[in-house]
Amino acid sequence: MLASTPPSSRTLISALIAIGLLGVVSAKSGWGEACDQSNTHLDPNTYNLVTDCDATTYCASNGTCATKGCRKDIYPFGYSAYAFDLLPPLCPQGQFCPDEGDQCLAQVPVGGACQKDRDNECALAENYKNLAGFLNTNGSICLNFTCYYANVTLGQTCIFDNTAYTAYLDSGAAYAFIVSRDNCANGLYCDGTSSQCNKMKRQGETCSGNKECLTYNCAADGKCGKAADDPLHPGAWQYVLVGLGILILIGGVMTGLWFFHRRDRKENQIKLEQYYNEQIAYRQSIMSMSHAKNSLLSLPPHASQDVVRSSLYRDDSGWTSATSDALLPPNVRRDSTSGWSDGEGPRDRMQRADSEVLLMPNNESNRDSRYMDAPEGQGGYRG
Ligand SMILES: *[C@@H]1O[C@H](CO)[C@@H](O)[C@H](O)[C@H]1NC(C)=O
Ligand SMILES: *[C@@H]1O[C@H](CO)[C@@H](O)[C@H](O)[C@H]1NC(C)=O
Ligand SMILES: *[C@@H]1O[C@H](CO)[C@@H](O)[C@H](O)[C@H]1NC(C)=O
Ligand SMILES: *[C@@H]1O[C@H](CO)[C@@H](O)[C@H](O)[C@H]1NC(C)=O
Repeated sequence: MLASTPPSSRTLISALIAIGLLGVVSAKSGWGEACDQSNTHLDPNTYNLVTDCDATTYCASNGTCATKGCRKDIYPFGYSAYAFDLLPPLCPQGQFCPDEGDQCLAQVPVGGACQKDRDNECALAENYKNLAGFLNTNGSICLNFTCYYANVTLGQTCIFDNTAYTAYLDSGAAYAFIVSRDNCANGLYCDGTSSQCNKMKRQGETCSGNKECLTYNCAADGKCGKAADDPLHPGAWQYVLVGLGILILIGGVMTGLWFFHRRDRKENQIKLEQYYNEQIAYRQSIMSMSHAKNSLLSLPPHASQDVVRSSLYRDDSGWTSATSDALLPPNVRRDSTSGWSDGEGPRDRMQRADSEVLLMPNNESNRDSRYMDAPEGQGGYRG
């Protein structure tokens, strides 16, 4: 009926139903208020227990709502306003809390009455560990409100309990979702027509219900499909593909960055070269100053004082002109060829020049090399 109505009106109807349910919930009796136990029943759609009392109370036999004496869930519904240690207690091993939640009761033996799908209301079998499976609770099962052990073997007569729930497709169309439970042992299912336990089917075999499949999934194509919790197993080629993808990505990023920074690198290179040239020029200026100081403060060998003194004032004096280059103020860029134009290799030249600065010249050979960057001065010096 709902499926034939347009979506907007369906939404409206759902909203109205929700409001109506809220009204019912708010109309429930609180603690100490009157209730009628004959109104207690299972909701036909959800199989929830419905009573006149609210979520924290149950309808006691004296016709009033009383506080619940136990809980069946660790986090029960309707107790959001309560601290965890104020919740009604859970029941100990061997007991159960019924749907009403009035008090803990002892588990019932096989053949005894149990509530809908409450397998844990049934007592355990001696060999419950062998019977325990994912479709029962510790080997016990509640079918048609009666306790059984899930112990019926292949080909034996079994009991099953079909529960139809209403499910909805994305389109809103309703369909029946049937949950079929039975008391066959693990790996077997109760066939609906013969009422005998059959072997469950492996993946790919034809099926007509989830319970027939070991994977508990009868796919839409009528064959047993993958289990809902079956992990994905990617093929080796997928690993290779992902690995290659990662490598290509890393390579791409690296190459991109290399191109991106190439301009910067070139600029830096030029700056460094300029810096080193500056430094060399600066160093040579300092060296020249050092030469000039030595030349001025020490007399040339075998020269008379008069000659030396007069040379200071003579423009044509060889050694004055020799030091003119050295007397340039620092930071004035000199012709760099004067430092490099010697016949010797540049490396040799640099080593000798280094030793000049580090060691104060005090012998003849050092004095000779000292003037190598001013070759025209040698004549003046000697003269
Ligand atoms: C009804 O029974 C409940 C549970 O036994 C008890 O707590 C409550 O006091 C009783 N109310 C009346 C009015 O007797
Ligand atoms: C099922 O068995 C386990 C292990 O013995 C136990 O902890 C658990 O309480 C049992 N469940 C029920 C409902 O009895
Ligand atoms: C369920 O149990 C009732 C009696 O308790 C019985 O009449 C009914 O046939 C059973 N239904 C099935 C499907 O076994
Ligand atoms: C299953 O358990 C019931 C109850 O204890 C017992 O009567 C029946 O013989 C058992 N069936 C098998 C196949 O063990």
